[in-house]
Amino acid sequence: MTDPHYRIAVIAGDGIGPEVTAAAQRVLEATGERFGFAVEWDPIVAGGAGIDAYGTSLRDEDLDRCAAADAVLLGAVGGPKWDDPAAPARPEQALFTLRKGLGLFANLRPVSVEPALIGSSPLRPARLRGVDLLIVRELTGGLYFGKRKEAAAEGAKRAASDSLPYTEAEIRRIVRLAFQLARGRRGRVTSVDKANVLATSRLWRTVATEVATEFRDVVLEHRLVDSCAMELITHPSAFDVIVTENLFGDILSDEASVLAGSIGMLPSASLGERKTAHGIFGLYEPVHGSAPDIAGQGKANPLGAVLSAALLLRWSLGRADAAGAVERAVRSTLAAGHRTADLLGSADQGTAISTAAMTDALVAHVRGQFPPVAVPATKPPGPFRGRATGPKR
Ligand code: IPM
Ligand code: MG
Repeated sequence: MTDPHYRIAVIAGDGIGPEVTAAAQRVLEATGERFGFAVEWDPIVAGGAGIDAYGTSLRDEDLDRCAAADAVLLGAVGGPKWDDPAAPARPEQALFTLRKGLGLFANLRPVSVEPALIGSSPLRPARLRGVDLLIVRELTGGLYFGKRKEAAAEGAKRAASDSLPYTEAEIRRIVRLAFQLARGRRGRVTSVDKANVLATSRLWRTVATEVATEFRDVVLEHRLVDSCAMELITHPSAFDVIVTENLFGDILSDEASVLAGSIGMLPSASLGERKTAHGIFGLYEPVHGSAPDIAGQGKANPLGAVLSAALLLRWSLGRADAAGAVERAVRSTLAAGHRTADLLGSADQGTAISTAAMTDALVAHVRGQFPPVAVPATKPPGPFRGRATGPKR
């Protein structure tokens, strides 16, 4: 195999997961050919597919295989087939096992607006100008991992509960990372909480304020999550880095996807502290779900997965050169007018192309086989542009 070569565990998952991961793999391979590296894939069956194959969403040995790779690429998990609330195994458990088991406490979700996609968002173009934000979502704490009590199957007084625990250490490490990332961007952190109600949010606010004293060059603002949800739509360009707890980050990132024109555009990186030979170990997945309604039809937008692969190149493989090429390919492909169905805004006249056709266009751009298309002179997508390395630790 060409050297260097990298090992990537691939969890295609369910619904459109296999279609979008296949696209990201093709683009990664084309990038490798151009930049002189090879990728060795380790396909792993997990999520609903894991339940069907093995009766569990993720086997222990498969978690070990993920941990042994340089990075993990994931499509999506879940679907109506496995939605029975009484079922003992759920596809989403694979995500939680991966996140917790691999120590991936930081979920980075960059949101920017591709100039070519301004018409794809329902928001007025003026609102979208200059939008370039990064949601830093805490990923291994809070409600997702707190004590849970399911309601009894029957009975007149059914009750259930979920708890939202956070330790100071968990808050400090994610807020610190947000500040480090803000240093390489516009130097602004919005810490989002519900400190007027929740005890964990009051701790969050206290710790964030303490962390800010270590970063005098970064401006910290606290914002309540309800007000943040409103500002995100009314004044999105005012945000730089948003740091928040697990569930708030989940909700705000779906909201923010409206800015980008489609949730199909958004990538994510889940990182921990562990370093590999090439970078920081991480798991990369589009923000969208398994979209069972369009699964298997070749309609899915592969760009969220492809941009996740770009984050993988940058963060886990230390290949900023290749990452930049993928991001430029996405930009050029969109500028050339290629659109999957989700990206056809009301103002667009064009017709939708398939996942495979979009991928063909991306691969051609990565290979430099298309003449460069004139695109507006704005910055490439993603929050890490121009940075050869990840955050200093
Ligand atoms: C996400 C998803 C998951 C989450 C679901 C599928 C459990 O919505 O990654 O944003 O809530 O974390
Ligand atoms: Mg979500």
